[in-house]
Amino acid sequence: MPPTAELAPIAAASTTYAPSQNIAELKESATIAVANRARSLRAAGREVIDLGAGEPDFDTPAFIRNAAHKAIDAGATHYTATEGILPLRQAIAAEATAIAGRGATAGGDPIQAADVVVSNGSKQSLFNACFVLFGPGDEVLIPTPSWTSYYEMVALARATAVPVWGDRERDLKVTAASLAAAATPRTRGILLNSPSNPTGAVYGRSELAEIVALAEERGWWIISDEIYARITYDTPATSVLELASSRDRLILVNGVAKAYAMTGWRIGWAIAPRTVSAAMTAFQSHTTSNPAAVSQHAAVAALTDVAAADASIAEMVREFRARRDAATALLDAAGVRYVRPDGAFYLYIDVGGDGGAFATRLLDTQGVAVVPGAAFLTPEWVRVSYAAPREQVLEGVRRLAAAL
Ligand SMILES: Cc1ncc(COP(=O)(O)O)c(C=O)c1O
Repeated sequence: MPPTAELAPIAAASTTYAPSQNIAELKESATIAVANRARSLRAAGREVIDLGAGEPDFDTPAFIRNAAHKAIDAGATHYTATEGILPLRQAIAAEATAIAGRGATAGGDPIQAADVVVSNGSKQSLFNACFVLFGPGDEVLIPTPSWTSYYEMVALARATAVPVWGDRERDLKVTAASLAAAATPRTRGILLNSPSNPTGAVYGRSELAEIVALAEERGWWIISDEIYARITYDTPATSVLELASSRDRLILVNGVAKAYAMTGWRIGWAIAPRTVSAAMTAFQSHTTSNPAAVSQHAAVAALTDVAAADASIAEMVREFRARRDAATALLDAAGVRYVRPDGAFYLYIDVGGDGGAFATRLLDTQGVAVVPGAAFLTPEWVRVSYAAPREQVLEGVRRLAAAL
């Protein structure tokens, strides 16, 4: 398989240790690698503008932090049910049912708490889903560029990740036709992510509907990672829940990390058909058990105090939009090519050459950290995160444009 090819496998053999087959292909996460490099340069006294990070630079809203304090004082310090506390799963199910209800098809019955499995971040939900659904011989289509961990998660399940590259003319998005062309009789699933990391592109309703229809017709599992759904600028993101005619082969993944600025709390979830949610729970019961009790209570506040949550998300999105508009104006003025983002908080920039060499030069000579596109299987690009203070984003983008 081709995953994040330019990164070396992390498992080095020694005289006493031979990496197991499970991790023989495993690569370091490029985004975390960049963050570490920027951190060590800073520790050495260099000034670094870090535009590598994939997390909101906002504090978790006070109403959520307060709920967490209260939960600790009320004794939320014990194990919980493996799949998460009932009030949280009920809140997730209610929100998802409302989203499904926006669609014409509505995907069948209301979503129940029993369909929901809460994990340590949506990253674990995605991994668990891949692990219980796919195995040796299975192929999984991954619209590319996409988040670096998808390729590795599919490989850890010992299935084959099949990248399907998007068109430049379509903001690097794939079409149902390009997915159909990449499919084989071994295709078992597809991993969707709209709004997209790393491009910020958002699939339009009809684009997504065609892809969902193809997957349903072929009987593929859809894993839809909608972690950036609430961070959009021009048009709201469409959820696969609104389009699916049934949830029989749909795993919807989301979490609190991005919309509620709660990356460190580690709460994500999967909504899956009952048999799959039971398998994911069983798997989780033997690996990590429940996610942190106090974090689950904080997530309940995030999902149920809707007025407070909406206000804090709106404020964050307003600031992201201002940064996006100012940064893209700089890029436009400099004639730089990029995907115009409509969601998430990334700018995907075409450097027209070796993105890895460019990112290294940018960090070493200009003190600006960005993520090389090789991490997302598109080596001629780099990813800039604008989840950093506005003046730093603009200064970093200015230096990047000058370096190009
Ligand atoms: C597309 C995508 N999915 C999932 C995640 C993981 O989020 P969480 O913090 O919920 O594990 C990230 C984080 O960067 C992401 O970019």
